[in-house]
Amino acid sequence: MVKTPMLEQTVQIVSNERDTDSYFRLVLRAPQIAPLIQPGQFAHVRILPLKDALLRRPFSIFQVADDTFSILYKTVGKGTTALSRMCAGEEVSVIAPLGHGFTLPAAGGETPLLIAGGYGMAAMFLLAQRSPQKGIVFVGGRRRVDILCEKEFAALGWEVRVATEDGSHGEKGLVTQPLLAELRTPHSALRTRKLFACGPTPMLKVVGKIAEDFRVPAELSMDEHMCCGVGVCLTCVIPVKTDGGWEYQRTCTEGPVFDSRQIVWEATK
Ligand SMILES: Cc1cc2nc3c(=O)[nH]c(=O)nc-3n(C[C@H](O)[C@H](O)[C@H](O)COP(=O)(O)OP(=O)(O)OC[C@H]3O[C@@H](n4cnc5c(N)ncnc54)[C@H](O)[C@@H]3O)c2cc1C
Ligand code: FES
Repeated sequence: MVKTPMLEQTVQIVSNERDTDSYFRLVLRAPQIAPLIQPGQFAHVRILPLKDALLRRPFSIFQVADDTFSILYKTVGKGTTALSRMCAGEEVSVIAPLGHGFTLPAAGGETPLLIAGGYGMAAMFLLAQRSPQKGIVFVGGRRRVDILCEKEFAALGWEVRVATEDGSHGEKGLVTQPLLAELRTPHSALRTRKLFACGPTPMLKVVGKIAEDFRVPAELSMDEHMCCGVGVCLTCVIPVKTDGGWEYQRTCTEGPVFDSRQIVWEATK
């Protein structure tokens, strides 16, 4: 992926609406940022009403229109709760687009299999939308309300397979189960498959192992805790293989997307 410039701007909220349960969709008017965004990149958002507003929160960029981009977020703490109370017309400060995103599958090339857990779906939508090659999206969550954007992925022409841990929607169990079933199904020898995933680290670790076992390439979005978001503070590092051994790399700048074969899983937190 080509590295794009990033901008720091105060931008206006177009809408901030509840999606399901504790998930919200925030649309921001950002005509200079929107055209720069690549799938898998993120925005670092300063929630101005927060007392500790200096600390930004990172969110994957979910959708892009001409002069807007959106994020899909879950309320988990004080930052996201404060964000959920903001209204159209109010402002947030963003640095975006940030990070190294996904490689777009080539037309007629490998079949992309997208694996998303919980809010990880937000990172996958733009990839599905811009990929000239359609494939299958595996979406997983604890409960039915954690399954987001199912119809939107289907409307893009992708096959969608759902798994919930409580069995309230789709197959009962982890999202990696239908993925395994798919990889075990005979596939055209002429077409290779490639995995793209975003979700909780334990899920990514299993996807990395599956990719290794089935000898398919995988790109994983490693969403570590971040402070600065721009490569300065080193709070977001993960161990990555090098020719001579391994080194720590920053998920905010070298990532968040990494080739799964690069990650030293034994040394991850
Ligand atoms: C590159 C990247 C992309 C992300 N994309 C999205 C997204 O599209 N949608 C979304 O809802 N969230 C996303 N997150 C997670 C989001 O940044 C956190 O949920 C948010 O910062 C929490 O802020 P808070 O003040 O509400 O929570 P806090 O009060 O700071 O913490 C509340 C809880 O959330 C956990 N938490 C905080 N930061 C993270 C994190 N980075 N990853 C996982 N758990 C965290 C804390 O450990 C704690 O348990 C992303 C994170 C990264 C690094
Ligand atoms: S968050 Fe500061 S270096 Fe990555």
